[in-house]
Amino acid sequence: MPDQADDNHGASGDPASSDTWWRTAVVYQVYIRSFADGNADGIGDIAGLRARIPHLAALGVDAIWVNPWYPSPQADAGYDVSDYRDIDPAYGTLEEADALIAECHAAGLRVFLDIVPNHTSSEHPWFQQALAGDASARERYLFRPGRGDDGELPPNDWHSNFGGPAWTRTTDPDGRPGDWYLHLFAPEQPDLDWDNPVVRAEFEDVLRFWFDRGVDGFRIDVAHGLAKEPGLPDAGEREPGAHHDEPHPAWDHDDVHDIYRAWRKIGDGYDPPRVFVAESWAPSNERLALYVRPDELHTAFQFDFLRAPFDAAVFRRVVDDARARAAEVGAPSTWVLSNHDVVRQVTRYARSQPDHMVESRWERLRWPSEEPDLERGRRRARAAALLVLALPGSVYLYQGEELGLEEVEDLPDERRQDPIWTQGGHTDPGRDGCRVPLPWGGSEPPYGFSPEGAAEPWLPQPTTWAGLTAAAQEDDPSSTLNLYRQALRLRRALLEEAASFQWIDSPPELLAFRRGDLECWLNTGDRPVPLPHGQVLLGSDPGSEGGLLPVDAAVWVVTM
Ligand code: NOJ
Ligand code: CA
Repeated sequence: MPDQADDNHGASGDPASSDTWWRTAVVYQVYIRSFADGNADGIGDIAGLRARIPHLAALGVDAIWVNPWYPSPQADAGYDVSDYRDIDPAYGTLEEADALIAECHAAGLRVFLDIVPNHTSSEHPWFQQALAGDASARERYLFRPGRGDDGELPPNDWHSNFGGPAWTRTTDPDGRPGDWYLHLFAPEQPDLDWDNPVVRAEFEDVLRFWFDRGVDGFRIDVAHGLAKEPGLPDAGEREPGAHHDEPHPAWDHDDVHDIYRAWRKIGDGYDPPRVFVAESWAPSNERLALYVRPDELHTAFQFDFLRAPFDAAVFRRVVDDARARAAEVGAPSTWVLSNHDVVRQVTRYARSQPDHMVESRWERLRWPSEEPDLERGRRRARAAALLVLALPGSVYLYQGEELGLEEVEDLPDERRQDPIWTQGGHTDPGRDGCRVPLPWGGSEPPYGFSPEGAAEPWLPQPTTWAGLTAAAQEDDPSSTLNLYRQALRLRRALLEEAASFQWIDSPPELLAFRRGDLECWLNTGDRPVPLPHGQVLLGSDPGSEGGLLPVDAAVWVVTM
């Protein structure tokens, strides 16, 4: 790809300003339930998060994104919201939320929340009114009569993302079997009907509610799901899955874009403008780019790294395609190596790597037969971090990746809480393994996650994490924590204003590119290679200084 326009600059060519901070931001994902527990009940909360703001500031990120913290029956870890304008008592209060936002701002951190507009909780008052027979409440959801002589068959053939049919039949107030309602996820997450103006108005108001409290932006849950194909036709052979390679009538319908044009106007009405990032599993980068056109959302997660093996050639294709498509609409790319829905990268990279993109959620590795080589996985994860942090665009980090945590694969079955585990008939262990509470210090669980004498953490932590706690890594210059800190510091100093991106010719097992005076080199081959000329600023492997770039390692080199 030729030298391209700077991703730090908008389509208009304006230099990066405080209004375009999101184009290069590094955002840290706080999975609040597992971040830090302030009140000793074994569940992370706002008090715990507030106490750990110094960790985030020292790390050097620009913003945090907090997973849903609203009142919720927690059928899907908070993605089943029963009140969009309050805080779940397990996490704290609105006053604490206000204090958190103010304290983050004072520490130089912006705050994103997570809005869940595709579905509510089945405990949401709207759905309760709908079940009780309120006609206008029913029109806010997707109730349909069943097929078959007695309506005993679901209205169409769609599957829930968590397994089983996407429809559940209701019982009418008179006790007779009634209509079915659509839920693309758990039955406790009924889908809203976004053709209904009441639904649109409600969420616009929810956005304003939080923007008025100082929130800087929103991550949009299931952003590609809100508009369905009219008539809700059968999908036929098209498999829904979590990553939708094929067009499907439930996903990525063109009508969704009107919703986001309206949201953009709301965000732009604030000073400074509020911003959005879409969780959109669009079937291609071409389709993904539609979400980030100039009058729509600012950014959208680029998820291809989640499915990419540790392989320079595959990484290069991922970067090229994402950047080319985003450039067509003047948007930056938004890189992600990990989040609360996928197997942690240390573990993904700890087994032999396929030569192609793998299925969603790394399913192939979920019930692994091969023993993971975690040390190797950790080396590769450190190298991959230097790769994405050197790319133009924005980067999302998932809590714990800065500590090099691995997936906890051996959770006792009876402790698993993810609906994917239960709804899928115990065939897929689900996502609990990447949601285990963080280790902050000490030599045994709960590793400072909770205050002394607290209840056990909501998911058990491994007994092997003493060396991975934030405290244990603090003073070790070669720790993963300090690698991330240095990378973020250098990125801020050298890359934010850098005006170019250029591949450097290299053998296929190497990935090399230049940005300004900085070069990033990554070796995914099976032999060390000579380092490029120049001064090594940072290496993912402490062995990088010996004139060679080791296997499974990356370096940042300054060539001036
Ligand atoms: C995507 C979220 O990241 C995931 O955790 C959740 O289960 C689904 N959306 C449904 O809201
Ligand atoms: Ca707590």
